[in-house]
Amino acid sequence: MRVVIKLAGALLERDEDVQLLARQIAELARGGNELLVVHGGGKIFTATLARMGIASRFVGGLRVTDRETRDVAVMVFAGLLNKKLAGAISLAGQPAVGISASDAACFLAEPMQIEDREGGLGYVGYLTEVNVDFLRSLWREAIVPVACCMGLGADGELYNINADHMAAAAAEFIHADRLIFMTDVAGVLDGDKVLSALRGTDIEDLIRHNKVSGGMILKLEAAKRALAGGVSEVRIVGGTKPRALVAAAGTGRCPGTRVLPVVRAAAKAANGATQGAA
Ligand SMILES: Nc1ncnc2c1ncn2[C@@H]1O[C@H](COP(=O)(O)OP(=O)(O)OP(=O)(O)O)[C@@H](O)[C@H]1O
Ligand SMILES: [Mg+2]
Repeated sequence: MRVVIKLAGALLERDEDVQLLARQIAELARGGNELLVVHGGGKIFTATLARMGIASRFVGGLRVTDRETRDVAVMVFAGLLNKKLAGAISLAGQPAVGISASDAACFLAEPMQIEDREGGLGYVGYLTEVNVDFLRSLWREAIVPVACCMGLGADGELYNINADHMAAAAAEFIHADRLIFMTDVAGVLDGDKVLSALRGTDIEDLIRHNKVSGGMILKLEAAKRALAGGVSEVRIVGGTKPRALVAAAGTGRCPGTRVLPVVRAAAKAANGATQGAA
């Protein structure tokens, strides 16, 4: 199975969490799965910027990224975090390579345009292409690619990409069977209850009724995009629970929340309605 695994930045902060996930990634790769690991790291990035005396500004949840900020993003995402994760997976017994957009031009991006800010967001982009041949060459050798959330622009510049959107778009481009978001909560919550399954229309309801906010809205939007792009299933799972990732990649009971395609749900609903009428 081809699986994109997106790891939250919060899960890269504690060595125990990194090792727990690295062991499961190694196990899944050993089992013959073609994995693409994508990681975030917003909090560590913000903390590093603060340490360097650079203020963070956001427009519509997206970070305004001038050249200086972007350079720090490369240091933190493509450097520190990327290497830490690739090292942990390799030490867990499966060779992994940390890749960033520049390597074999594996992730291409275009700058994101927003209307209400003169000069745009700076070096913020969206994913436009994935070098699947390059990824295939790694999978053939059972090497796990670990990608940071950046894309290479036609101008040769690196662009920061929201990690959830990067994972969703990459899942679509590589025709992944499944996209798994490992996050810092147990799944999508309705109050204190973890929702075991969600469908497209449920997502709109949750947003409309203010039951989801912040990063979870971006994640659900990314999930919807991946499903619309042909990924069969998206799962949103807490990353600190032992074996949660292995379970999320399997066919048995899924911890966290399954996000299912609308079409299938609509067909089922129509079917149910017909049966109900009969
Ligand atoms: N209904 C909800 N269910 C679960 N989490 C929610 C909900 N509404 C808001 N959230 C928030 O969304 C957060 C998850 O998104 P967040 O962007 O912080 O993490 P991530 O996307 O997994 O990691 P990163 O942004 O580092 O890539 C949770 O920690 C929680 O605070
Ligand atoms: Mg997020």
